[in-house]
Amino acid sequence: MFRSYHTVRALYDSGPHKFVEVNGWIQSIRHLKRIAFIDLRDGTSTRSLKIAIPLVDQSLTEPLKSLKTGQCISISQAEWVPTPQREQPFELRVGNVLRDVQILGNVTSQYPLQKKSHSLPFLRTLPHLKHRSNYLGSLLRFRSHVEHAFIQFFAQNEFIKVAPPLITSSDCEGGGELFKVEDSENYFGRSAYLTVSAQLHLEALSLALNRCYTLSPSFRAEKSDTNRHLSEFWMLEAEWCFAKDVSELTHFTQNMLRSVIKSCYDNKNELIPRIIPQESEQASTILQRLENLCKDGNWPSVTYTEAIDILRDQHVNVKPFPNYEPQWGSALQSEHEKWLAGEYFQSPVFVTDYPKDCKAFYMKHNDDGQTVACFDLLVPGMGEIVGGSMRENDYTKLIKEMDRRQMNHNGDLDWYVSLRQEGSAPHGGFGLGIERLVSYLYGNRNIRDAIPFHRAATGTIE
Ligand code: 4AD
Repeated sequence: MFRSYHTVRALYDSGPHKFVEVNGWIQSIRHLKRIAFIDLRDGTSTRSLKIAIPLVDQSLTEPLKSLKTGQCISISQAEWVPTPQREQPFELRVGNVLRDVQILGNVTSQYPLQKKSHSLPFLRTLPHLKHRSNYLGSLLRFRSHVEHAFIQFFAQNEFIKVAPPLITSSDCEGGGELFKVEDSENYFGRSAYLTVSAQLHLEALSLALNRCYTLSPSFRAEKSDTNRHLSEFWMLEAEWCFAKDVSELTHFTQNMLRSVIKSCYDNKNELIPRIIPQESEQASTILQRLENLCKDGNWPSVTYTEAIDILRDQHVNVKPFPNYEPQWGSALQSEHEKWLAGEYFQSPVFVTDYPKDCKAFYMKHNDDGQTVACFDLLVPGMGEIVGGSMRENDYTKLIKEMDRRQMNHNGDLDWYVSLRQEGSAPHGGFGLGIERLVSYLYGNRNIRDAIPFHRAATGTIE
């Protein structure tokens, strides 16, 4: 494809070969009496390549002394041979190090990554190098696979991938968590912000294309210093016309996630590393979860009112939640969400029909006048990973709700409101936080590890 060299992944998929060329980084070197072994990674696989160097003729293996962990090397004319007597099925055999091994990039004596598996807190202090660890490198490959599976699912379902703007004039969620965009003063004399959600623009596009989606960055200037908040994260957002009700949205969301998770499970051997740092879930737990999530049957769904009843019963009769008493009308706290999904349902669970004041202005009201046609998907250990709703498509009702919230509909949102006067259609959609989903599936407990260079209220900016 690129050149004629072999990637580690391709080699493991192939049979015996002569004259193999590989490139990669030395993970470790071991010298035994008659043979030396190098573990080489090239970033394409959770597996490393075992390179065997028989120590027969010292003059040919002398350069071995200058090889160190972390160096980038190129190997040519090696042989990929089956090794039925060893644990790994193949190894790469190099006879003439002098001729066939070339150092492409050296390391200093301070190179911090060593053969042993490092702790995640230590790796996080090295944002520019940490992805060379097998665990965090595999996490990025896993994320790439998840994104690819989403793209496939949407293509199969006739969705158009669109590119909404990242610089906007409005606060979609109304939370006031906006990063301002400035040149020397304002954005060319106007107020502009980094988008918190592409939803409003997606709605406009869905009224043209019917089914559309985007996978793009979102920005939230929130100070939450938690393991599930980032100030820059990636959101998968989908919007479609002629949606009937919230149960259509939750069914779609479940089918979409099943298809993505199934694809991860089918590719588990290439996606999940075998050796995992102690702080994270171990491979057997991850595989069991993926397998369970692939099983048929609907994930449970409860209304917000039912969820509050369950939570209050727990709070009053079993174990009080230390921080917040569950109250009808207040947002669910993350500990409520985690308890519902992790302990009560022990499964992903949809919570629908929240009180209107817990949610954004654009959601369609239910007939009870108190709640809105919306859902959150909560998962064990992480809480909310998806939020969606039917959108208010009636002009008069939308204006009324914006007035109730003292929002200006003649200002930055006039174009959005006017969509309800020009061929409006019933529609709905959702947004899914990619880092939260990936972390839930991969079992890393901090979403900061699911994005290559995390941005949050605290921490470094490289
Ligand atoms: O629930 P949210 O705020 O919904 C919206 O923004 C809607 N406009 C989406 C839509 O309907 N098109 O965010 C959606 C998801 C959350 O469920 C969560 O997974 C993720 O985005 N999310 C975050 N992820 C990481 N860091 C943060 N600070 C996040 N805020 C939201």
